[in-house]
Amino acid sequence: MQCETGSSLFVRSVPGKNFIEKDLLGIRGLKKEIIQLTLKKAGSYKKAFRENQEFSSLLKGKTVVNLFFETSTRTRMSFEKAAVNLGATVMNFDSVTSSVKKGETLVDTVRTVESLGVEGIILRHPQAGASVMAGNAVKIPVINAGDGCHEHPSQALLDLFTIQEIKGGIAGLKVLFVGDILHSRVVRSNLWGLLKLGAEVTVVGPFTLLPPGLEEMGVNVSPDLESCLGEAEVIYMLRLQRERQEKGYFPSMGEYRKYFALTKERAENISPSAVIMHPGPVVPGVEMDHSLMEDPRCLIQEQVKNGVFLRMALLDLWVAREVN
Ligand code: CP
Repeated sequence: MQCETGSSLFVRSVPGKNFIEKDLLGIRGLKKEIIQLTLKKAGSYKKAFRENQEFSSLLKGKTVVNLFFETSTRTRMSFEKAAVNLGATVMNFDSVTSSVKKGETLVDTVRTVESLGVEGIILRHPQAGASVMAGNAVKIPVINAGDGCHEHPSQALLDLFTIQEIKGGIAGLKVLFVGDILHSRVVRSNLWGLLKLGAEVTVVGPFTLLPPGLEEMGVNVSPDLESCLGEAEVIYMLRLQRERQEKGYFPSMGEYRKYFALTKERAENISPSAVIMHPGPVVPGVEMDHSLMEDPRCLIQEQVKNGVFLRMALLDLWVAREVN
């Protein structure tokens, strides 16, 4: 399992300022200009929605497949809604009832999907690097919807969009990530994106859940949540990735909560203008108190709403390839 930051794995060079590669594999290999273009496109789609304008049928006559080898609520449905909004036909692949159970390989699956006449693949897979392998096997675009503990680019982009919208910009913003940094593909993609856009990023978590190489990336690392909360302008809580944890990383859940959960009491010490974010799903009573999900500073539902507009932008740029 590839759980370390600072690795040179999966990086591809991107020629030219506005050149968009065939596949969206991660934020690490994405130029700042392409990130900004994506956020701008998402903003245009959100504006059109607010003004009750019809979306263009950019993907009319095209088929997009959700190829999910792992569970998902938000990402899968959000990509489906985004594709339907742009006029596409959407196919949903269920690995449990597919020929994967008979030994079909990932490469065989994506080549089969391509031969069926699909124009774009949205891939979620438990293995880091699966989207690179899939992208190399087909001519159609592959969008990484989360690969192991490597990257989750569409989540990070919707987070950047949400932060930019609420805070008016990202450069110089103090962003704090709390929890299981080691196993989180969400935080990995967010770190690359936030640093490219000039944010000041700090991570807090049990030292056993902090990967090496964070300081070298330009990230501040702290073991003490209390001392970081007051200054943070964005507080991004993370779910404990129990499905990816191979051993006990902390003594007990009670101890984890004691030091690293965002409780009601701790939330009283955060700035009234700070915002609370989480990629979902939240495990109530573990990483944050359930009541905080109703706090006016909590952006979780806004993140989900923005996910549709952001993924429309991704399908526009990577599948319809309407770069303007
Ligand atoms: N944030 C996220 O990836 O959620 P899902 O696993 O529900 O898609």
